[in-house]
Amino acid sequence: MKKKIKKIGIITRDCAGINAAIRAVVRTAYRAGFKTTGIIRGYEGLIENNTIELNPRSVSGIINRGGTILKTARAKRFRYSKGQKQALKTLESNNIDALVVIGGNGSLTGASILSSKYSVPVVGVPATIDNDINGVAMSIGADTSLNVALGALDKIRDTATSLERIFVVEVMGRDCGYIALRAGLAGGCEDVILPEKRLDIKEISKEISEGSIKGKKSWIVVVAEGKAKAADISKKITKLTGLETREVVLGHIQRGGRPTAYDRMLAARYGYHSIELIKKGRTGRCVTLRNDKLSAIPLSKAIKKKDIEVNSYYKLIKVLT
Ligand code: F6P
Repeated sequence: MKKKIKKIGIITRDCAGINAAIRAVVRTAYRAGFKTTGIIRGYEGLIENNTIELNPRSVSGIINRGGTILKTARAKRFRYSKGQKQALKTLESNNIDALVVIGGNGSLTGASILSSKYSVPVVGVPATIDNDINGVAMSIGADTSLNVALGALDKIRDTATSLERIFVVEVMGRDCGYIALRAGLAGGCEDVILPEKRLDIKEISKEISEGSIKGKKSWIVVVAEGKAKAADISKKITKLTGLETREVVLGHIQRGGRPTAYDRMLAARYGYHSIELIKKGRTGRCVTLRNDKLSAIPLSKAIKKKDIEVNSYYKLIKVLT
């Protein structure tokens, strides 16, 4: 017989909108009659038995705050059975009957292990700036980071135009070019370099040189960190074109900041739905939207590699250059 769920643990990673999701999970759980416990420092805290009791009041005033009030950490130990079994002990000693895991690929992989290998009732909530969760069109945090990157590109555009310079801007995205591609299009950038696309630096340099002869003097190339380093690309462009090139690495500013309205709404909806799924016993799943309706997919599907649409976006970038 399945154990009756009384208390739900919450594990988080880091990006804008996660606090809004914690708030939604805690408050929905409270209304459904569940207690909630936050796991401090992600899976590392689950191994170390680092927890904090949560209630509707302890999550007030966090909807607009970036990061995670629960803190997080990379937990290499959780990759191995020893760490996983230690984590199970924490669940047991704290009477945690189910988990909501809010995070990206790594976090959801952990959730999938707990669900499939140890039969822990787990629901995943996609939250990552990389927006690379398979079967999920939008993860919490992706919209905020895209807007942070866009804000930076707009500022770089000002100075690039004034000084007639070429800029190479490196954005986050380890295996996925989501931010680079979308920010590149929205920012009116001239080219993007992505993990999903073959890199032809000679072709990019040729276009810059030809553009320069025709009078197009400033140029922004956005590069996803997972494909190449801005410094290397910048050097190569200078070498091939003889034109002055500057590089900017946006880095972790893309993971912080106040969540956008879109991310807060997504966090509210996903957080709410995670508890609905637990109530119905539909665990081992990751929440998502289908035609703007709350839905769920198996965690095993969510952690597979996501293919993003590149061609139509890239074509548009080039047509509009
Ligand atoms: O997965 C999210 C992400 O922000 C990636 O875009 C980036 O490559 C990575 O995390 C950076 O991780 P860390 O903060 O541990 O260096």
